[in-house]
Amino acid sequence: MNDMILEIRHLSKSFGTHQVLRDIDFTVRPGDVTSIIGASGSGKSTLLRCINLLETPSSGEIRFHGEDIMSRKGGAAAYRSKVGMVFQSFNLFDNMTVLRNCMIGQEKVLKRGKEESRANAMKYLEKVGMAPYINAKPRQLSGGQKQRVAIARALAMDPEVLLFDEPTSALDPEMVGEVLSVMRDLASEGTTMLVVTHEMAFARDVSNHVVFMCDGVIGEEGAPADVFEHPSNPRMIEFLSRFRNA
Ligand SMILES: Nc1ncnc2c1ncn2[C@@H]1O[C@H](COP(=O)(O)OP(=O)(O)OP(=O)(O)O)[C@@H](O)[C@H]1O
Ligand SMILES: [Mg+2]
Repeated sequence: MNDMILEIRHLSKSFGTHQVLRDIDFTVRPGDVTSIIGASGSGKSTLLRCINLLETPSSGEIRFHGEDIMSRKGGAAAYRSKVGMVFQSFNLFDNMTVLRNCMIGQEKVLKRGKEESRANAMKYLEKVGMAPYINAKPRQLSGGQKQRVAIARALAMDPEVLLFDEPTSALDPEMVGEVLSVMRDLASEGTTMLVVTHEMAFARDVSNHVVFMCDGVIGEEGAPADVFEHPSNPRMIEFLSRFRNA
C-alpha cells in the first residue's frame, strides 16, 4: 500500500489534432493542498476535468488509491463522489433550494436517506456560513454565497479530494475573500484539495504544492517557497512578473 490518493501518470489529452495535455505526472497525498497555476489556455481546466472524468484522457493513467480508474468498469459516479468538484460558475441547480442542492447528490448517488442527507447538508452549510439561507433559491444569493453553497454541496458528498476550478474568478472582488476564507479553513483542517487558481497569495500561503502549467506540460512544480522565490522555468518567471507588476 502507498499513501497516495491520486497518482497522475503520463496523462495526455488531445481534442482532435490539438494536444492540450502532454505527459502530466504528479501525485496527491492526504492533506495536500495543490495549486495549479498558469496562463489561460495552458490546460489547467482540462487537467481537472480529466481527473474528474468529465473528459476522457487520451492516454496515461489516473490512479485512485493505486487503482487505475480508467480501466475499471463502470462506477464513474461512485468515483466522482470521492473527487468532488467546485466550478467557477457554481453549477447549482437553479430550481432547487440551497438545502435540496446539498441533499440531492447524497440521495441519488450515495443512496442516503432524507434525514441523513439533510443532517449532513446542514453540517456543511453551517460550516460555510450558509445555514440561514437553506430555503433560498440560488438566484436570490450573491456570487460569494452561491459559491459557498457549491462548496457545502461538494463537501456533503464526503469526498476524499476536492477539485476547485477558479472558484473565485467569477466573483465580484468584494466576495472573493469570503470564499477564500472558507477554502483556507478547509485547508487548515486537512482537507485534500486541488485548486486551479489565479490567486497567487492563496497558492503561496495556503498550498503545500504548486504546479505551474504551460502549453499542456508541467513547467515547474514544488513547494511554494521554492517555486515562488526561486523559479527556474523562464515561462514561470515571466508569468510571476505579470502578477507582481499588476
Ligand atoms: N472541449 C474542447 N474541445 C476542443 N478544445 C478544447 C476543449 N476544451 C479545451 N480546449 C482547448 O484546450 C486548451 C486548454 O484549455 P483549458 O480550458 O484547459 O485551459 P485553462 O488553462 O483552463 O485556461 P483558462 O485559464 O482560460 O481557464 C485551449 O486551447 C482550449 O481551447
Ligand atoms: Mg480554465
